[in-house]
Amino acid sequence: MMQAVKISEKVYWVGAIDWNLRDFHGYATHRGTTYNAYLILSEKPTLVDTVKKEFYDEMMQRIRSVIDPKKIQLIISNHSELDHSGALAQTIAAVEPQEVYVSAMGMKDLMEHFHQDLKLKVVKTGDRIDVGGDTISFVEARMLHWPDSMFSYLEKENILFSNDVFGMHYATDRLFDDENDEHLWISEAEKYYANIVLPYSDIVLRFLDQVKQMGLSPRMIAPDHGFIWRKDPARIVALYAKWAAQKPTQKAVIVYDTMWGSSEKMARQIADGISSCGVQVRLLSMHHNDRSEVAHALLDSAALIVGTPVLNSQIFPSLADVLCYLKGLRKKNLIGVAFGSYGWNGAPIDELAKMLENMHVQLVAPALKVCFVPDEEALNKCRELGVNIGHQIKEKAN
Ligand code: FEO
Repeated sequence: MMQAVKISEKVYWVGAIDWNLRDFHGYATHRGTTYNAYLILSEKPTLVDTVKKEFYDEMMQRIRSVIDPKKIQLIISNHSELDHSGALAQTIAAVEPQEVYVSAMGMKDLMEHFHQDLKLKVVKTGDRIDVGGDTISFVEARMLHWPDSMFSYLEKENILFSNDVFGMHYATDRLFDDENDEHLWISEAEKYYANIVLPYSDIVLRFLDQVKQMGLSPRMIAPDHGFIWRKDPARIVALYAKWAAQKPTQKAVIVYDTMWGSSEKMARQIADGISSCGVQVRLLSMHHNDRSEVAHALLDSAALIVGTPVLNSQIFPSLADVLCYLKGLRKKNLIGVAFGSYGWNGAPIDELAKMLENMHVQLVAPALKVCFVPDEEALNKCRELGVNIGHQIKEKAN
């Protein structure tokens, strides 16, 4: 039988490890993920969040390893997305708790997910509940990253249950930050931020301010994915403040695809021009990279340069895919340019530039177009464009 993992005096991790998850609604999760649920063994045993539906049995085994599930009196649902609430209805049916606490939007979402009366009770920011020997207070975290999102704070134990916020997609049986390589966790938490939280960066900054004013200084932050922060929880909070500020650094990302190598030749010349200015560049072919890697690379970049071949009078499909994804992530403070090669109709490359404009990327030059294969003169123009972009990044970024 799978075991619960003790994380503090009274709190146990009773979640599930999804080792082989490789796609999380479009986010490529090369390292899998965890669905973290927590059991507070207070006088009124309390379950915080559940797991994806398929992992119900795993969660229940872990709960059973420390308590008869029927003894759970309270359930808190901090987030209604189905990776945390998928097993909720089944858990409520099995446990028959006295109360199930959700935010107002959580109530609406869960009703629309399950279409049954789960006997939910709405709580709001500032509400506190007695869990027997300790108290949980609630902080609504609207749009971090769904309207229903909520934090729960176990006061005496000083543990903040933060739902998706401060999480990462990383399957591990080493639950704590200090049991894992620091470079790895920073990279995975950063990738998670870039792919999930980024569109709500203004809200993140306001929320962090609000939490500071409330005087919360948790000794442990327990998110719904990945590691539990116990070594230095303030570190991940500070990283969130940095990522949310979206200050451009001296980095550029070139995203492209190619049919017969022309757009790739152009991309490599542009990259060389940018590098020559001392700006770090990443060249990402959409044939070899997924959109989540691009989003991650873009997080601290000052420029997004996109290149496409023309196929059937359209931009290449892989570029349409990644730009649709990036548009939703609403990255700020980018300059950019479009480039590409065509045979008899270069208009789609101009359309690519318009797509950048629609993403609020500031265009620094007209689209650079080459008919079929770039000659030496065209390649030099590409490199000059790179140098131009490099200089502009140097002026703009720290
Ligand atoms: Fe991990 Fe928004 O669900």
